[in-house]
Amino acid sequence: MGISLISAARYLPKGSLTNFDLEKMVETSDEWIQQRTGLISRTIAEDETVADMAIKAGVKCLENVTPEIKNKIKVLILTTVSYLQVVPHVAAKIVEPLGLNKDILAYDLNAGCTSFIYALNTIERFLIKPGDYALIVSSDKLSDYTDYTDRGTCILLGDGAAATLWEYSQETDYFSISQTITNPEVLCREGKYVQMNGAEIFKFAVSTLPGLIEEICTKGNVAIEDVDLFLLHQANARIIESVARKLKTDDEKFPVRYQNIGNTSSPSIPILMTQLIDENKLQNAKNIVLAGFGAGLSLGIVLLKGNGQYVVK
Ligand SMILES: CC(C)(COP(=O)(O)OP(=O)(O)OC[C@H]1O[C@@H](n2cnc3c(N)ncnc32)[C@H](O)[C@@H]1OP(=O)(O)O)[C@@H](O)C(=O)NCCC(=O)NCCS
Repeated sequence: MGISLISAARYLPKGSLTNFDLEKMVETSDEWIQQRTGLISRTIAEDETVADMAIKAGVKCLENVTPEIKNKIKVLILTTVSYLQVVPHVAAKIVEPLGLNKDILAYDLNAGCTSFIYALNTIERFLIKPGDYALIVSSDKLSDYTDYTDRGTCILLGDGAAATLWEYSQETDYFSISQTITNPEVLCREGKYVQMNGAEIFKFAVSTLPGLIEEICTKGNVAIEDVDLFLLHQANARIIESVARKLKTDDEKFPVRYQNIGNTSSPSIPILMTQLIDENKLQNAKNIVLAGFGAGLSLGIVLLKGNGQYVVK
């Protein structure tokens, strides 16, 4: 038994920071950034908070959902790595604006850029019978923590949010692999800013993801060729291309859509899902692999197996 996606929406703030803007701030060039990351610009929230963006994405996601279904949402997980206030948690702040029942289990989850995958693993355990629903809202404002004098991080990071609503499904199957390696130095926030050893994370991702993707496909008895989409954390286009090459899989099945958004951390995979819905691609997928990796170090891979059915309703 598994889960199906029944609604999704994103919110991207209006502000932007282009490669040309960054050329004026640090020693870098549009050419270097495009070649090494594929990025052109990043979405930047100015006055909006993590909670504001979460509400905008959540409201849009629930817009066309019937009141009956909304009433049956039993858990809300808010993923974020960049919430300034900490207490109270963001999930509490958004329950009422989203019109959710107050008897909902609502809390924040932070597992770095793997947060969305761990949130999926969590709700999958809550969705146990027909008519069970869970909402994941992912929102990050990394610009609050970005050192715009550090060219190793500021060229990558952007702000945004996405919400996804899931239901228990008898037709689909769910498989997951999680890993946590205690290595806090590689990516952390010490003081005000995020510090990252980009090359180290790059190596970690490209050396571990292909093998684990093969492993999850074996676990779920799905051939790599039968996976329709591999939705990887949009951290760096070159990481995604390298994994696709190692798995000898068509680049088209490994979408990269962050060129004008940036690496947003926890919302990056659900934002990608909404972009693929707009392109009519996610609706036609019967087997999907999702993979997140980042601070911790943390890593999570999920296989949504449709058993001949679509995993998005
Ligand atoms: C950050 C990242 C883009 C850097 O790209 P890279 O190809 O690994 O670059 P390196 O750090 O090896 O540096 C290569 C050279 O480019 C230089 N460089 C680094 N950033 C630069 C920039 N913005 N502009 C120009 N030159 C830059 C370095 O100083 C280095 O110069 P040197 O060879 O003279 O020493 C890349 O490592 C990355 O995306 N890592 C993954 C990040 C990630 O996934 N984070 C995860 C969680 S959110």
